[in-house]
Amino acid sequence: VPRYLDHNATTPLDPLVLEAMMPYLQSHYANPSGVYRAGRAARAAIDRAREQVAALVGAHPSQVLFTSGGTEANNLAIKGTCAKQSVGTLAVSAIEHASVLEPAAAVTQQGWQLVRLPVSADGVVDVVRLEQILSVHDDLRMMSVMLANNETGVLQPVAACAERAVSRGCVMHSDLTQAVGKIPVSLAALGVQLATLSAHKIYGPKGVGALIYDKSVELESLIHGGGQERELRGGTENVAAIVGFGVAAERALIDLPARTAHTLELRHALETRLRECPQVVVFGAAAARLPNTTYLGVPGIDGETLLMQFDRAGLAVSSGSACDSGTTDPSHVLVAMGVGQALGRSAIRVSFGAQNNLNDVDVFLTTLQSILSRYAS
Ligand SMILES: Cc1ncc(COP(=O)(O)O)c(C=O)c1O
Repeated sequence: VPRYLDHNATTPLDPLVLEAMMPYLQSHYANPSGVYRAGRAARAAIDRAREQVAALVGAHPSQVLFTSGGTEANNLAIKGTCAKQSVGTLAVSAIEHASVLEPAAAVTQQGWQLVRLPVSADGVVDVVRLEQILSVHDDLRMMSVMLANNETGVLQPVAACAERAVSRGCVMHSDLTQAVGKIPVSLAALGVQLATLSAHKIYGPKGVGALIYDKSVELESLIHGGGQERELRGGTENVAAIVGFGVAAERALIDLPARTAHTLELRHALETRLRECPQVVVFGAAAARLPNTTYLGVPGIDGETLLMQFDRAGLAVSSGSACDSGTTDPSHVLVAMGVGQALGRSAIRVSFGAQNNLNDVDVFLTTLQSILSRYAS
């Protein structure tokens, strides 16, 4: 069995989630739009999931719009908001996931001006620079800043950004995909009107997520036809996946303190012992980070080589954003942090989860030591 240290990429399905989903894949197959009893039961199951997902971030169930995942929710937030506004400036942090960066780039085709908010060397959005940018762009209408970066795990000053944006009438979105289930998240404390969630990062199924939306924000649907999800997302609901997402959200809330403590212990053990390898750099080390994430650079060894060596030793780690693997360029996150090309190319990400233990940390470190002794110049 491989030692899986890539929980920011995806997580295994919680057995309780699978158990809750099974009836909706087998006997409870009715269309939730059906007016007969079985249809109403499927509708009730979706409504229950809506409550469970809302509770995870302190939202009202009517604010939850189910999508096919984080990518679609991010696309809907950016494109759906911009479509309803007069053309202006859109600001997104330079370290967003591609599913925010690319829709943001796409709306420039309609005349929007895109500003990428810079980050510090530790990977934190620079609020002072944000204020300078705001003073120049008085037509800012939409802003998106993620709560936790998927590569570094670094937490972002979303509330401070939202305060500045919303006071100017700008719509504020935050991608919460990596944050929920790892740190406490409250929509009210963040002050955002739109937020993205994805089930498969919290031990739920792949292919389901949600956009949490404030009804004061006008959204244009990406998918028309059928009228589901208040006419904002047409198509017969993926009932089993939505039910699974609901249970995963409920478990995430209940287990949060235990999951945080457990992964923090592993990360602490890892980073303490990494100090014995002085050449190894932990990116964003000085910033507040997710409890489960260590993003490290091993100067002189290519990230792809590291990945293959770890894979041979039975360890699943990542070279950062999954979308970037297969290329040898440093990730856009490290570039935004000002990390040099050579160090950037040597990055690997370890992200712990519920099933990991201290033995996994030991095996990772022993493998790293042996790679270092073989490859380092
Ligand atoms: C920060 C962030 N946003 C969005 C996504 C996309 O979510 P999904 O895989 O559900 O489309 C991911 C996962 O890869 C992510 O890490």
